[in-house]
Amino acid sequence: MDVIQIKGLYKKFDEEFILNGINLNIKSREAIGIIGKSGGGKSTLLRCIIGLESITSGTIDTPPKNKMGMVFQSFNLFPHKTAIQNIMESLVIVEKIPKKEAHNIAMELLIKVGLQDRANYYPKALSGGQKQRVAIARALARKPTVLLFDEPTSALDPDMVQEVLSVIEDVRNTQNLTILIVSHEMKFINQISDRIVVIEDGYIKNIVSRGNIEVLEKDNI
Ligand SMILES: Nc1ncnc2c1ncn2[C@@H]1O[C@H](COP(=O)(O)OP(=O)(O)OP(=O)(O)O)[C@@H](O)[C@H]1O
Ligand SMILES: [Mg+2]
Repeated sequence: MDVIQIKGLYKKFDEEFILNGINLNIKSREAIGIIGKSGGGKSTLLRCIIGLESITSGTIDTPPKNKMGMVFQSFNLFPHKTAIQNIMESLVIVEKIPKKEAHNIAMELLIKVGLQDRANYYPKALSGGQKQRVAIARALARKPTVLLFDEPTSALDPDMVQEVLSVIEDVRNTQNLTILIVSHEMKFINQISDRIVVIEDGYIKNIVSRGNIEVLEKDNI
């Protein structure tokens, strides 16, 4: 069953078309890797899918907004809240889950991302890799059916990339989720994606299946 259906999607900023007729159907539990040159429209596509950008024409069918999560390059944690408070926030405020229960859910998620010992740290006292793992735990808290990642490791020091990729891989293998991930980590994308979509100038230039990234020309990245 398709969990996301994108038909004839165009997106214009000012007078310039940034997405030029994207058609893509994504099945439940599929992992889609999205690659392509800078400025091609990858982030814009994810932002349109989750509803952070209006679309100019076409249609995007998705699960309801509260069933979709997004992890950003820059973490976007609340600086004045601890790791565990960041994860609890939407559970308590939006879902009205009692604090104690929300705390338990958040702690389980911190265990999942290997950060149970950092529960009471503020973001400024966490490394980039740790912040991103908290952001992933936070995105999982509301049990999304679709999770979008926009270059989740590109703001990290090289020695922290692997710990975040491992968590994403674990999420991919253990949660009942559909994943779209934009990344320049080609080896990782090739490994975890059922399909790899190449975006260029707002078009889908190519789609290949898992393990076939090498058939793409080098200038796709
Ligand atoms: N809010 C905006 N207003 C005007 N133009 C925008 C806006 N957001 C994005 N763009 C333009 O849309 C184009 C695609 O941007 P987008 O961020 O989607 O690219 P990308 O493929 O994610 O690139 P990168 O790999 O560098 O992250 C760029 O030319 C960018 O300048
Ligand atoms: Mg981008």
